[in-house]
Amino acid sequence: MRKSFIAGNWKLNKKVSEAVEVSKAIKEGVINLSGADICICPTFTVLKSVYEIIKDSNIALGAQNIWYENQGAYTGEIGASSLLDVGCKYVIIGHSERRKYLNESDETIAHKTLSSLESGLIPIVCIGETLEERESGKAQKIIETQFSGACKNLPADKFSKVVIAYEPVWAIGTGKTATPEIAEEMHKFIRQLIKNRYNKELADNCRILYGGSVTPANIENLMKEPDIDGALVGGASLVPESFIELVKKSQNKQTQ
Ligand code: 13P
Repeated sequence: MRKSFIAGNWKLNKKVSEAVEVSKAIKEGVINLSGADICICPTFTVLKSVYEIIKDSNIALGAQNIWYENQGAYTGEIGASSLLDVGCKYVIIGHSERRKYLNESDETIAHKTLSSLESGLIPIVCIGETLEERESGKAQKIIETQFSGACKNLPADKFSKVVIAYEPVWAIGTGKTATPEIAEEMHKFIRQLIKNRYNKELADNCRILYGGSVTPANIENLMKEPDIDGALVGGASLVPESFIELVKKSQNKQTQ
């Protein structure tokens, strides 16, 4: 059985005082909601302050990136042990913004995914095609390459913890959400890739989130699709009211 999952990716937003205020409001708003897993992923510098607010709540903490070594001469990087130390449970890996602006390769993403799992963090691995790739009929090929790249050297027992986020690049921050039909087609395809690479049980159990202009106005239709288990939300996760609404509207979806 897959439990709904709503994760907020705050990206490069919010200083400590703002992050504390927003996390307090979210905590209040979701206090009695147990029908979906909830996670917020702020910037590194506010992780600890946010953790102090949410530590005894139903909200988990996630980071937006990780390095694949725990310590050493890696200037500017943060490893799993540091993230665990400030209360993180999840980490977003391979976001398209990092692939684009920081040239993150499938190889790096594979290292990061394995390293986070070995350290006890749950990776939310992002995959998604650009508009050009979609329009030239390559969407599935790209997803297949990114998926198998991220899972390189990942045994089944490790994969069982992974959360996948399908985030078409053309839908991120554009207001152009993928239609539920397009999203479902891709989620179903990803589930098939998991089945082919691993087995049916892992495919049935893996949570696949949709990301890209998710709002309280479109979440319900997305969540009606059988292979959409939740959302990785950018802009709408920055506003407590809309994030709370997204969690409310994703409660108790029974899948599988
Ligand atoms: P938006 O919800 O702002 O489109 O961002 C989606 C995203 O990139 C989440 O990781």
